[in-house]
Amino acid sequence: MQISLKPCKDVTTVNTDCLILIVDRSLSTDIAKAADSATGGAITEIINRGDFNGKIAESLYLPAVSGLKAPRLLIIGKGDNADLKDGEFDKIITAAINATASAGCKDISIMLDSISVADRKAPWQLQRIAQLITTAGYRYTATVSKPKPALSIRRLTLQGANTDANRRAVHCGASIGKGINIACDLGDLPGNICTPSYLASEARALGRKFESVTVSVLDEKKMAQLGMHSLLSVSAGSDQPARLIVMEYKGGKKSDKPHVLVGKGVTFDTGGISLKAGSKMDEMKYDMCGAASVLGTLNAVANMDIKLNVIGIIAAAENMPSGSATKPGDVVTSMSGQTIEVLNTDAEGRLVLCDALTYAGRFKPASVIDIATLTGACVVALGKHASGLFSNDDGFAAELLEQGRLAQDRAWHMPLWDDYQGQLDSNFADMANIGGAEAGSITAACFLSRFAKDYRWAHLDIAGAAWIGGANKGATGRPVGLLCQYLASKAG
Ligand code: BES
Ligand code: MN
Ligand code: ZN
Repeated sequence: MQISLKPCKDVTTVNTDCLILIVDRSLSTDIAKAADSATGGAITEIINRGDFNGKIAESLYLPAVSGLKAPRLLIIGKGDNADLKDGEFDKIITAAINATASAGCKDISIMLDSISVADRKAPWQLQRIAQLITTAGYRYTATVSKPKPALSIRRLTLQGANTDANRRAVHCGASIGKGINIACDLGDLPGNICTPSYLASEARALGRKFESVTVSVLDEKKMAQLGMHSLLSVSAGSDQPARLIVMEYKGGKKSDKPHVLVGKGVTFDTGGISLKAGSKMDEMKYDMCGAASVLGTLNAVANMDIKLNVIGIIAAAENMPSGSATKPGDVVTSMSGQTIEVLNTDAEGRLVLCDALTYAGRFKPASVIDIATLTGACVVALGKHASGLFSNDDGFAAELLEQGRLAQDRAWHMPLWDDYQGQLDSNFADMANIGGAEAGSITAACFLSRFAKDYRWAHLDIAGAAWIGGANKGATGRPVGLLCQYLASKAG
């Protein structure tokens, strides 16, 4: 996708397959008026006849217009309010992309003068459009003989000044879009391809692609030496060995403390001996979407050349039942020295993450965010619209919430009160790995908090946000948008 910036002086001379105008019913902007009069009042006539009402994201494709250099015109409604909400802007741009793509347009131009989003300036709009057109190009191709045809659109011209800030915004949007697509691709891959070793090879490929990224992979022997017996208890029943993957991006000064991302990389979650029910079990291939978001984010961060040190850690394992699998009641010792009674082998995410969180402490981090498809309870609480956010620092949580709003990849702050900790009491170990029927996403976060005491830490439960089910089953690439926006804000 080639995305360029060009200020529009005369709408009638824009050279493109399809000109996209975002209008209200009264054609209140100069560009809309100019286009209307050049076409001999065609747009006014369409509105007067009632064929177009200008509602938000309502679109009308005119495959043959005369009077403009552009042979085709797409008009999109922006409603009657002066300022749009973030989500409405997204709807409008998505409608523009969908309508021109289904018409087979190769080259499109969006006239942006006429659009104003509350509290958002031009670079925000440009970044958003670059991201949306990039993610619109995502196709899953790995295991289908006849993949869906590629997006027809190859060139997008945005009306805007060719300034450093605007170019940077377009570059960031495209980089984040690519990061999201990478996360989708990894998430959508089946569990027989995307194993812990596969994730490790993807990480190594990232290290080869960017000079700024170095990658190291710990195997099971090394993890055992470090005492990661909680993580290893999850892979114990699987023929696929676990991996702890560490990716270090150096964009800041040597002395800058790194921001650490820790991803749950359970490449398939059967539940283990506490076997899951059969229905929709295929979706547990998505149990590595936290890991996928870490890989996607690192890719984007390196592409954007952010002036920050970022470390991505992936705790990768497959959760299977077998003669060597961990059993309910087994007690394991984590790298931190704390012992855990595994009362349910299906609560395995926290078991892989706790050792990765302890390992993260070695980097003396500025902050640590773990990302995990951790609990079904989080889906019950928040559905698919928000990630659950837990933190040991309210200021940090507030920052992440705000960056999520900016990125249109929202989280919702959940409590992490000590009152819930007692639910993890065990008679036979320092803690149990489950906390009973109540507040399942909170007790899972409470468990993790016991391994994240030494630094500013946040936990994102993406069980609802990471993929959608049903006819359009597929990964969403979330929360790459939130994470990139947060890291970019830290780099200033
Ligand atoms: N990967 C699942 C969580 C999950 C379930 C995410 C469904 C998305 C959709 C996790 O490993 C799990 O199985 N959690 C259990 C915890 C329970 C045993 C305390 C759950 O949520 O049922
Ligand atoms: Mn599970
Ligand atoms: Zn799981």
